[in-house]
Amino acid sequence: MAADRLVGEALEVELERLLEEGASFPPSQEFVGSALISDTAVWDRADADPVGFWEEQARELVWAKPWDTALDDSNPPFYDWFKGGEINASYNCVDRHVEAGLGDRVAFHWHGEDNSQRTITYSDLHREVQLAANALKDLGVKPGEVVGIYLPMIPEVVVAMLACARIGAPHNVVFGGFSAQAVAERMEVSDAKVLITASGARRKGKAAPVKEQVDAEINGRDGGLPSLEHILVVKHAGQDAPMLDGRDVWWHEQLQSADPDCPAEPFDADHPLFILYSSGSTAKPKGILHGTGGYLTGAAWTHKHVFDLKADKDVWFCSADVGWITGHTYIVYGPLANAATSIMYEGAPDYPHQGIWWELIEKYKATMFYTAPTAIRACMKWGAELPAKYDLSSLRLLGSVGEPINPKAWLWYHLVIGGGNCPIVDTWWQTETGHIMISPLPGVTNAKPGSATRPLPGIRAEVVDEAEGNEVERGRQGLLVLRGSWPGMLKTLYGDDELFIQTYFSRFGKETYLVGDAARQDADGDMWVIGRIDDVVNVSGHRLSTAEVESAIVGHPAVAEAAVIGQSDEQSGQAICAFVTLESSHATSDEIMAEINQVVADRIGKFARPKRIIWSDDLPKTRSGKIMRRLLRDIAEGRALGDVTTLRDPAVMAELEKQVAAQASEEG
Ligand code: PRX
Repeated sequence: MAADRLVGEALEVELERLLEEGASFPPSQEFVGSALISDTAVWDRADADPVGFWEEQARELVWAKPWDTALDDSNPPFYDWFKGGEINASYNCVDRHVEAGLGDRVAFHWHGEDNSQRTITYSDLHREVQLAANALKDLGVKPGEVVGIYLPMIPEVVVAMLACARIGAPHNVVFGGFSAQAVAERMEVSDAKVLITASGARRKGKAAPVKEQVDAEINGRDGGLPSLEHILVVKHAGQDAPMLDGRDVWWHEQLQSADPDCPAEPFDADHPLFILYSSGSTAKPKGILHGTGGYLTGAAWTHKHVFDLKADKDVWFCSADVGWITGHTYIVYGPLANAATSIMYEGAPDYPHQGIWWELIEKYKATMFYTAPTAIRACMKWGAELPAKYDLSSLRLLGSVGEPINPKAWLWYHLVIGGGNCPIVDTWWQTETGHIMISPLPGVTNAKPGSATRPLPGIRAEVVDEAEGNEVERGRQGLLVLRGSWPGMLKTLYGDDELFIQTYFSRFGKETYLVGDAARQDADGDMWVIGRIDDVVNVSGHRLSTAEVESAIVGHPAVAEAAVIGQSDEQSGQAICAFVTLESSHATSDEIMAEINQVVADRIGKFARPKRIIWSDDLPKTRSGKIMRRLLRDIAEGRALGDVTTLRDPAVMAELEKQVAAQASEEG
């Protein structure tokens, strides 16, 4: 109960005690007693026959036609799960539940940032999804044609995704925090035929135009966007929108005139369900392409078993945005495939107040909560007194995702939010993996703060050495890899099979997927994921590439060169730090700094703006001209410099250190 929760000094003392003790946390007897999985037999079962294990899980879905081959692995890394099978994801997320008599079950308790509320049942989804699917068909969308979605966290985003799935049109959702320019680019590279967006969005009490900005970007481009035939506009936040005759249509009008019946068509198991652009080592985001049958199998199984879901009783709350993979898999496809009831919140975690999540948990009696470490750290900063004001006793399980969780944040989450009673599942996975890969199973695993523990049943994750890709001994750091394939594995990078192979399979062969993270396995076999080994930065759980930010910064006419690194940050995990060299004709100034920030906001989105810009006359480069980011990281984090002998001009570092010190003292 609220009154029992630790706050203030007592909490600090307990946190320190547990940190020192290095405690581990087995599930309570009570939790084990009612858990879906309560012993390790499931790993034995999956180890003995991983493909058979996943087949068993796939049978939980409804297939229009059963598969002929469970896994065709004859052409790695192009794996074909449930080959010959036919399925419709929207049918599995909606219709079959209505047919089973669950039409009145709430799919979403939607809560607006202005305190407005909507209850969406499975019958409501059934009706709306069919209308939206026909609306898309009326606009000429055919199976295989891409539909872009750029919407705030409103129920229409889910309806739009499921409508696409229903007619076999892969969706390409762009997170609402990306700029209109990023949206236009993603529409262009995915050849989107229709874009579904909103007239406006609510942003912490203010309404911001969305469609208008998208228009400005698209109409301002030479030749516009050739593939884009229509923009479907959801009226939201009381905003009107400019509408171009013949191209733009209102969502409500288009749905009103659509036929209410749209039977779900079966598609091949590997039919593309969606593309989600994500950052890699290059400036160009990669279009990660997911299929249907395998992805849905992995999404549904992991959502049910990692979170121990009892769909008839639980209320699920995932705080992610639907525009990221966490939202795709654990707001839309996983929960809906399992007929779960979810909370969906429109706003920011600190609006209208910093206790809004706890208010929602109390109001809707959430039983599970899934969020990112960066959010937990923000809540820690706001104080344990805030959640203590709410009744969080309905919670029985907590989850974490997106970045390594530091043990102190884990313990705070456990004590303050979980009241010491809720297992925490620290779930490791990626946009590419589609669903959770390494995580405790809450009724079995002895959780350790900071470790994602074991690969799930049916998943083979290993820590290997850089040179040969052989498994390293326990306790040693190495590269995290995934062997073979798993149902939710990305199918390819959209339109670029070569890049797919080169990015993930050029290092250790076509049957070993290179994750891009460093990790270590402890003596018990538990995994500790350390962080990225490539130039991907994780800012508040948002994946960004240093090259992408650099390319935005050098778009400013006064900038000669830029190098971006991820600097450790207590709050956001990592923060963007940019070393910028201006053209000699320009002097450094606060104005240019503000302009550089604006360029990044326009090009990518506000969340990608550097936290720190360091002016530098020169950058440390090797003799072949490669920027040594390791040295920049050392400088930014105030560490002793590593080996500088390979530099073309070692004096650059001394100069840079002087500049950083001078700038730091100026900034006070
Ligand atoms: O570095 C890992 C980190 O996030 C990366 C994947 O980012 P993204 O594709 O945006 O997906 C995030 C949500 C699934 C990984 O390569 N990461 C994700 N979860 C964890 C994590 N690092 C440590 N522990 C985790 N639980």
